[in-house]
Amino acid sequence: MTPSSQAAPRPGRFITVEGVDGAGKSTHLQWLLGFLQAQQIPVLSTREPGGTELGETLRELLLHHDMALDTEVLLMFASRSEHLRTRILPALEAGQWVVCDRFTDASYAYQGGGRQLGADKIRQLEQWVHPDVQPDLTVFFDVPLDVARERLERSREQDRFEQEGALFFERTRDAYYQRIKADPQRFLVINSGQAIELAREQLMNEFSRWFNRVHPA
Ligand code: TYD
Repeated sequence: MTPSSQAAPRPGRFITVEGVDGAGKSTHLQWLLGFLQAQQIPVLSTREPGGTELGETLRELLLHHDMALDTEVLLMFASRSEHLRTRILPALEAGQWVVCDRFTDASYAYQGGGRQLGADKIRQLEQWVHPDVQPDLTVFFDVPLDVARERLERSREQDRFEQEGALFFERTRDAYYQRIKADPQRFLVINSGQAIELAREQLMNEFSRWFNRVHPA
């Protein structure tokens, strides 16, 4: 059969970026976006919590307003639901690639692990809000917790999460590791404790290998 002359629109890809606070993901995120831009990939760069007008209002509350744990996790998913429906899914359907600074892995890690809500409740919300959507790739910036802490202490005013103690971050990082163990194919784990040039080189090598596989020239 002759292939149709009308090529199907290129399906969008969904990339998320994760790590404990102080892992240095923001710096590397800019490189990732620059790489995709240079390849002329149409990209929506966004973040969670946030990414919509309502979501950014919820982010402000989540990061700076005290609240009960159930409220926190429900607001994370409320923001996510709005974000998926109004921005992420329409972009992917239009063939754009979406690069999202944190997504549901962060809920498993921070609320499920750090705040000890456990994975089951997160799974229920995930099933409700996005039963059929998962990132195609998640870049996880891994860093020894003492290095992360040192970086945080050098940074600007800290939000509610950044102010948490060492045990919180140990539980958060452990929960990230469980996510990676459950689905290793989806993750690129970048050693962000090494010098920034080396971390970038590792990211560049591993990301471009993945990119060439999903988007052959
Ligand atoms: P972060 O992404 O680190 O932004 P910045 O680099 O501007 O500090 O901040 C978002 C915070 O939200 C981070 O501490 C993790 C937290 N968070 C959760 O606890 N659960 C979630 O589901 C998401 C998406 C984020």
